[in-house]
Amino acid sequence: MKVLGVVCSPRKGGNTEIMMSEAMAGARSYGAETELWTTAGKELKPCDGCDTCRQKGGKCHIEDDMQELFPMVLAADGLIFGSPSYFGSVTAQAKMVIDRLYSLYNMYVLPNKVAGVISVGSSIGHEGIWTQFSTFINYCHMLPADYASGFARNKGEVRKDRFAMKSSEELGKQVVSLIKQQFHCPEEYRRPLYRVCAEEYGIDSYPQNRF
Ligand SMILES: Cc1cc2nc3c(=O)[nH]c(=O)nc-3n(C[C@H](O)[C@H](O)[C@H](O)COP(=O)(O)O)c2cc1C
Repeated sequence: MKVLGVVCSPRKGGNTEIMMSEAMAGARSYGAETELWTTAGKELKPCDGCDTCRQKGGKCHIEDDMQELFPMVLAADGLIFGSPSYFGSVTAQAKMVIDRLYSLYNMYVLPNKVAGVISVGSSIGHEGIWTQFSTFINYCHMLPADYASGFARNKGEVRKDRFAMKSSEELGKQVVSLIKQQFHCPEEYRRPLYRVCAEEYGIDSYPQNRF
């Protein structure tokens, strides 16, 4: 059983990474193998909207460090996404990771993976992070785990936030417990509903073709 932590802070060894490490330790204490991947120091490009992955399926054509993340996500039974609050939402790096995972979304390979969220901010913006990741988790038919939140500004400060540290550890354990439940989405609902309606009934989701 594998749990992957995806840290979407540009700051190596920052507060998000510290909380994620705690979550990974929690997951290991419940028997999982863990891997932590961070956007820090990586070359990442945004999705260019070529739409090939949606129309033809398969691999994202952009050759950058996302290519090392795709197989890690595929191999994971559980994922934890973490981001600091940047102007009340996720970092640009987090949004790039989400958008580039469109290729895996279009392959219907994300359902049944458990996914939790870690947020860090000096004061506000946690809900923006939770909403962004939750929407993604929901779209992909992953099974949602909880949120862990931390309050910190300077690097390392989150270690003083007792709730952040403990809730991160518990989140890691929770993800493993949920994986052990072996939830399975019905095969036909691996696909998003817009695909089901188009492919099974010929009913399009485009507003001009609905009525
Ligand atoms: C560009 C930028 C925008 C930020 N916006 C917010 C914000 O809206 N709310 C907040 O509470 N903290 C904000 N912060 C502070 C970070 O969320 C905080 O320093 C966090 O601990 C960084 O996590 P990291 O160490 O994992 O990078 C911002 C920091 C930066 C660099």
